[in-house]
Amino acid sequence: MIVPATPEAIADAASSLRDGRLVAFPTETVYGLGADARNADALRRLFAAKGRPAHHPVIVHLASSAALPGWARAVPAYAEALAEAFWPGPLTLILERAEGVFDLITGGQDSVGVRVPGNAVAHALLDAVAERGGDGIAAPSANRFGRISATTAQHVASEFGDEIALILDGGPCQHGIESTIVDCTGSEPALLRPGAIGFEQLARVLGRPPRSPSTASPRAAGTLASHYAPRTQTRLLPRADLLGALGKLGKPGSHIAVLAHSVNQPPSFEGTWFDAPSESAAYAQQLYANLRALDAREADEIWIEAPPDGPDWIAVNDRLRRATHRG
Ligand code: TXA
Ligand code: MG
Repeated sequence: MIVPATPEAIADAASSLRDGRLVAFPTETVYGLGADARNADALRRLFAAKGRPAHHPVIVHLASSAALPGWARAVPAYAEALAEAFWPGPLTLILERAEGVFDLITGGQDSVGVRVPGNAVAHALLDAVAERGGDGIAAPSANRFGRISATTAQHVASEFGDEIALILDGGPCQHGIESTIVDCTGSEPALLRPGAIGFEQLARVLGRPPRSPSTASPRAAGTLASHYAPRTQTRLLPRADLLGALGKLGKPGSHIAVLAHSVNQPPSFEGTWFDAPSESAAYAQQLYANLRALDAREADEIWIEAPPDGPDWIAVNDRLRRATHRG
């Protein structure tokens, strides 16, 4: 059930979480599907609802960094600097886990992912959970495993139907793509998942660019080759290839759905055409909603004009590569 995120609804949601139920809620990145992070039964229900393999860890959302000692046994100085600069906000830190953190959360690894979200509803929910004796909300993105993340309450409902008792509606998410994940378990920070906080923002705080993950880095589901994928066959085409392919279509016998940010719809084109923003933050904010809407057209293929290669586009290009991966 979708309910507007009023103070009363947030209080009910917090009580539900403490009773072991699942609640979907908005964050500044994407919607999360939440469970009480200290309740093993609730966590099992979470994995079942998502259809997520048990060895994929989930992020714990905290009301503030004051809660960190219960979750992480060591916080290197560079991680403290990142938390100081970007929390509350769209950054997830992977830290050495504290004693007592469930394997269900860590995927059996010796690390835990934590973040303090900045979205007002998420924040109020975390405070209300804490007031009821709780300690953090474990929340993956509110989509079925491998599918497109949800950036509105309606997207969440279309993924899970009646399976979730409560979906708090806080409107469309501000960033529209997931948090940036930085592995802070080594002597040097490593970027595990590009996201809402850009590479250059991280580098500015760290005083150096974060390194790329090594093969020894902890697993991150968002780093699977195929993820965020529409059901419709989807291709990423550089601008010139898109123009060439459009030129060859003529009167299409097939239905093509296009997402373009610089190419204009040709007058003769008879398929589905979506214009995406040409600026990276706005493009990202609308990306998952666009992918869902394109998929819903049930076209024969989705063609996406490949965005530029610049640093501002790293996270968007990462998601598009995984959304279009075959095999
Ligand atoms: O923006 C976000 O991060 C959203 C909102 C809801 O907070 N959450 C999200 O969760 O994207 P999810 O489960 O879809 O992706 C979390 C990623 C996964 O790739 C997971 O493998 C990684 O975080 N992760 C979590 N804990 C980890 C750990 N201990 N080590 C390595 N990766 C971890
Ligand atoms: Mg996800």
